[in-house]
Amino acid sequence: MSKTPSLPTRKPSSKIIQGDVRSILRSVPEDWFHCVVTSPPYFNLRDYDLPPLEWGVEKECKHVWDDDGYCIRDCCGAWRGCLGLEPNPELYIANLVEVFEEVKRVLRPDGICWLNLGDCYSGKELWGIPWKVAFALQEAGWFLRTDIVYAKSNPIPESVGGWCNELVLDDKGESVQCENCSDGSCGDCWEGKRIKRKRGSWRPTRSHEFIFMLMKNDKYFADRDAVMEETITREGVRKNPRSVWTHSTVPFKDCHFAVFSADLVRRPVRASVSERGCCDNCGAPFLRVIRRTKVKDRDDKELRMSLEKLRFGKAPPPWKGWEAKRELLGWAPSCNCSTVETVPCRLLDPFCGSGTMGLIAKELGLDFVGVDLSELYCDMARKRIREFDPDR
Ligand SMILES: C[S@@+](CC[C@H](N)C(=O)[O-])C[C@H]1O[C@@H](n2cnc3c(N)ncnc32)[C@H](O)[C@@H]1O
Ligand SMILES: [Zn+2]
Ligand SMILES: [Zn+2]
Ligand SMILES: [Zn+2]
Repeated sequence: MSKTPSLPTRKPSSKIIQGDVRSILRSVPEDWFHCVVTSPPYFNLRDYDLPPLEWGVEKECKHVWDDDGYCIRDCCGAWRGCLGLEPNPELYIANLVEVFEEVKRVLRPDGICWLNLGDCYSGKELWGIPWKVAFALQEAGWFLRTDIVYAKSNPIPESVGGWCNELVLDDKGESVQCENCSDGSCGDCWEGKRIKRKRGSWRPTRSHEFIFMLMKNDKYFADRDAVMEETITREGVRKNPRSVWTHSTVPFKDCHFAVFSADLVRRPVRASVSERGCCDNCGAPFLRVIRRTKVKDRDDKELRMSLEKLRFGKAPPPWKGWEAKRELLGWAPSCNCSTVETVPCRLLDPFCGSGTMGLIAKELGLDFVGVDLSELYCDMARKRIREFDPDR
């Protein structure tokens, strides 16, 4: 059993399925995927030009829909429309929870689901949608492990002004003289020049979204060694990734929405699957066999201190003098099946859009299933994945 298995010999597969995610996932065996990474339509953001679907249908009913999409029959409560275009956030959240019930069914008990969500404003007030969704998913039985801030290094500029008095200018750009006084005593001018009072509702430009790390329970597989980061100060010593991930957004010519940046989504996938694959019988991921040794600090302590001072503006806490080195010796199964054969781990994106997750799957040697309601985006995703060469 301790023999290190070879890499999966079977070529990873990729499947893009067109349809409503809820019905497509019903045909997938339960406990199937090791990892889900997805970005559903955000609330109130854009119309994907998709056919309306029925939501919250709990019993048989010959629905009669009103103008807002609600069924007017007694005690029905169903709504017909597109995910993201609900008349209020409560309904959007309920519909997302409905989708994620199906996602939960097909996620392995040791799997991880990464959910990317952005917020929006109701007039000037923030809805707080991502956290409302996170709480609702918790209520629905999901285990919420952490939030991650996806910080965009190139956010869309917003014009949000504050309070000030602005000089009124004429066509030539010259300030306009006050008609009442010449010294500002009238209260509506400044030193005799006309001013306009501005009371904007200033706030910082929104430049982040959330990624929630969710699972079925707290006993989930994660490969931290796959995602440890290099440190600038100590060669060979790596640190755990932090919970703020800064990346630029990626415009994609054929899409009207923001596509995932590959650099943003590669890390969560690598943390959720085994590089060595999983058991061909039960799907359990193979685990690294690690030799963890403590090594004495070398004498570059001063260099390290000065580098950290440069980086953080202050000296780091006292160095304990020891550090852990982690060496990979091999791989071992996490199940008791007698097999040492591995097959690729399985990745799902239930709202796959242009298929970015399919590219990541191809790059990392994973089986991929992508679902999207749009035939157009399914075709685009298939083409993109087919033409993607991870070695280029
Ligand atoms: C924000 S986009 C996903 C973008 C994707 N992360 C990428 O990198 O291209 C959301 C996608 O959800 C799809 N969608 C909307 N409602 C759906 C449903 N009920 N079932 C499946 N897909 C749906 C839309 O067609 C759209 O492509
Ligand atoms: Zn009804
Ligand atoms: Zn005046
Ligand atoms: Zn097994």
